[in-house]
Amino acid sequence: MNPAAPPVLERYRPAVERALLRVVPAPGGPLQRVHDAMAYSLEAGGKRLRPTLCLATCEAVGGAPEQGESAAAALELIHTYSLIHDDLPCMDDDDLRRGRATNHRVFGEALAVLAGDALLTRAFEVLAEDTRLPAEIRVEMVTALARAAGSLGMVGGQALDLAAEETAVELSGLREIHSRKTGALFGASCRLGALAGRGPADAVTDLAAFGERIGLAFQIVDDLLDETASAEVLGKAAGKDRDRGKATYPSLLGMEESRRHLDQVFEDAQRMLVRFGSRAEPLAELARFVVERSS
Ligand code: IPE
Ligand code: IPE
Ligand code: MG
Ligand code: MG
Ligand code: MG
Repeated sequence: MNPAAPPVLERYRPAVERALLRVVPAPGGPLQRVHDAMAYSLEAGGKRLRPTLCLATCEAVGGAPEQGESAAAALELIHTYSLIHDDLPCMDDDDLRRGRATNHRVFGEALAVLAGDALLTRAFEVLAEDTRLPAEIRVEMVTALARAAGSLGMVGGQALDLAAEETAVELSGLREIHSRKTGALFGASCRLGALAGRGPADAVTDLAAFGERIGLAFQIVDDLLDETASAEVLGKAAGKDRDRGKATYPSLLGMEESRRHLDQVFEDAQRMLVRFGSRAEPLAELARFVVERSS
């Protein structure tokens, strides 16, 4: 789907897909329909950026990739649920996602809501049941992921995003929306990776902060691409933020100033990797992809 996918995403892709295969429900039986709806969105592809960040962060603190496997899967499960719900008519009302018809378009709204709920719930089950990790690490991961996904993180950001369709926001408000709706889960991707890799507390904190900044940068680029790219390239609708009156970086600052902000956030993020030296090279590569991507 993404012709410009950098080598780092390709390198981690087999591990990410393996991790996801282990967590999708088995086909068949009376629950086939809801399981099909879950698999439909999960298997539609996507850049797999959050699980890749998780595995790369696990390695940056000296962990083996297998240690980050369940966290990687949990992150993509939650991200996929967030996309299904984000596309619903009561939210952004989109018809195209990951190059396919949106979940509710195929399965109906009720099943799309339920598939999203089940993906979200499955994420915590997957983390909690991974007996390869010590119980106290699992508890820390579950807590961090719940916080990032909940009303102080992604859900809160989505609520603020919808409210901002009605009321003007200033730059600080917009930064908060983007930090919560997207930055929080990116931060959790790195936090969980660092926890899985058994990194020391200060490394966990720094890498989580790196992830949050990269997530903010990612959402700024998402706003920019909504203005400049085509639906064909994005695999989702383009040019819709303006129509819906969304609060975005380009709508508030214009393209040029948005790019300047993006550069600042990127430099900020890069600085946080310095102390990790060459072990953080995959993370640096992912950060560059986030700001340079065209799809
Ligand atoms: C889209 O995320 C939603 C945002 C946070 C902007 P991605 O662009 O990572 O979506 P996929 O996973 O590649 O489809
Ligand atoms: C979505 O932001 C962020 C989520 C938490 C899903 P957008 O609404 O901008 O994402 P796209 O552009 O539909 O992928
Ligand atoms: Mg949205
Ligand atoms: Mg949307
Ligand atoms: Mg968008």
